Amino acid sequence: MNKTEELKKAAGIEAIDFVCTGMLVGLGTGSTAEFAVEELYNRIKDGRLSEISCVPSSERTRMFAEGLGLNIVELSSERRIDVTIDGADEIDSDFNLIKGGGGALLREKVLAQNSERNIIVADDSKLSQRLGSRFPIPVEVFKFAFEAQKSYLEGFGGEVRLRLVGDGSPFLTDQNNLIIDWYCGEIEDPFYLADQLSKRAGIVEHGLFLETVSDVIISSLDGVKHFVVGEKS
Ligand code: 5RP
Repeated sequence: MNKTEELKKAAGIEAIDFVCTGMLVGLGTGSTAEFAVEELYNRIKDGRLSEISCVPSSERTRMFAEGLGLNIVELSSERRIDVTIDGADEIDSDFNLIKGGGGALLREKVLAQNSERNIIVADDSKLSQRLGSRFPIPVEVFKFAFEAQKSYLEGFGGEVRLRLVGDGSPFLTDQNNLIIDWYCGEIEDPFYLADQLSKRAGIVEHGLFLETVSDVIISSLDGVKHFVVGEKS
């Protein structure tokens, strides 16, 4: 395991300290979130946790969690998720995020908005002063609307790229939509931009996650730090 993976693992493990027996847990997508899923499994296996049910944020995570034998359930109107643990691609100093590097932004946002507690786990390479300076905004687009949304985003400036997979064909989300990675540069007002993107028919979801987070766990060579959003220290 390289150093970055070790840091991701440390953050993922720490997040499971916030899971208690009997909880409904939202499972994020990506390598950091998978370290948390593995730790959840370890604690169930050794008896430290029991009666845990999980809602995965992607088919990738569903397969991973099912492979470990975790109890997978659907989102239900009867019960909110107690805690969701997910990764991020970029985290600003207000703990707003860019997410969607794994293409799971739509379901990830659904989980984030339906969780009592939303914990983001990451290594410190994900931190930035301003969103957009390190990572493009992933924009999930309905195929029919692709050309129109591409032109719309180009109108703001920056570079717009259709996400592809290894064989050169378009990446498809779990909903069978396309992803545009929009290299828009530093975002001056993420709230304004998120509002504009949300208004567009054809944009299914965008990767700006604003004010969705309750806790952030960041690991670095100096150790693991837990931030409660609103109580920065
Ligand atoms: C998936 C995501 C991931 O959380 C994000 O891409 C971070 O991934 P990793 O933990 O592998 O660095 O948003 O859609």
